[in-house]
Amino acid sequence: MAWRGRDVITALDFDRRDLEELFEVAREMEAYARSRRDVLRGKVLAVAFFEPSTRTRLSFETAMKRLGGEVVGFSGPEGTSAEKGETFADTIRMLDAYADCIVVRHRAEGAAKLAAEIAEAPVINAGDGASNHPTQAMLDLYTMWRTFGRIDGLSIGVMGDIRHARTVNSLIQSLSNFDVSLYLIAPETLYPRREVLDLMERRSVRYVVVDNAKEVIGKLDVLYVVRIQKERFLDPLEYERVKGSYRVTPELLSRGKPHLLVMHPLPRVDEIDPAVDSTPHAGYFRQASLGVPLRMALLYMVLGE
Ligand code: NCD
Repeated sequence: MAWRGRDVITALDFDRRDLEELFEVAREMEAYARSRRDVLRGKVLAVAFFEPSTRTRLSFETAMKRLGGEVVGFSGPEGTSAEKGETFADTIRMLDAYADCIVVRHRAEGAAKLAAEIAEAPVINAGDGASNHPTQAMLDLYTMWRTFGRIDGLSIGVMGDIRHARTVNSLIQSLSNFDVSLYLIAPETLYPRREVLDLMERRSVRYVVVDNAKEVIGKLDVLYVVRIQKERFLDPLEYERVKGSYRVTPELLSRGKPHLLVMHPLPRVDEIDPAVDSTPHAGYFRQASLGVPLRMALLYMVLGE
């Protein structure tokens, strides 16, 4: 499907060909990620972040500026008319009147889809509740593609709060376009939601669910870790019960393959021992830095001439 003017709402909307096309452009953009390539001069990007963010917002803003475009927006409802009671729909209508593309993050599931229905300009979902974070999944797959030169054939462990992490939901959706083996590693209360299991079954993804990384660590090429999503728990006691229940250590990684790549969308809390940072397995900082060229490619493909 053509990229130009397209909304980016869920990872499932992008098939293997879309992703491979994006990755080729991102690869070219890496050469400009610390300089400039003025292909979006005169375009304005609106970033509407109703929920906290560091990497996603700043990498979108950096990407737009490296492409010669301008950025307007806010990084929390404070200071906007949302505080006076303006509806989400009206805020989006205004941004649509000002900007050429709108990036939205919101705590409510479905917020980006609603924004896309309201706005004429393309809308990019930068995370809505516990459900979707498609550009993170694009970045995650791009990191694997850059590291291994392929995605097919990889054995990928996904460890942590699989139930609540939107990054995991989008990651699994995106990976279902490729021939991979998934090992979902989580304490039982954080096991995948039914819809995620259904998706993997429908799309014939090979997967197993285990509660301990030790059982599978030796099989993995990638170990993708996520923090426990404290803010998504309905019951604080439930959070207290699982807090600190998993942790990646150099000792655990010493049982893995020499090329095992540890990934994390960040922020991390306590699920990766900082001692892992100085091992060759640590891939999460490079992953985060690839967010700029990947989002440059995305903005260019959606907004470019
Ligand atoms: C993630 C998110 O916001 O969902 N952060 C990010 O965008 N890199 C992951 C998280 O908050 O755990």
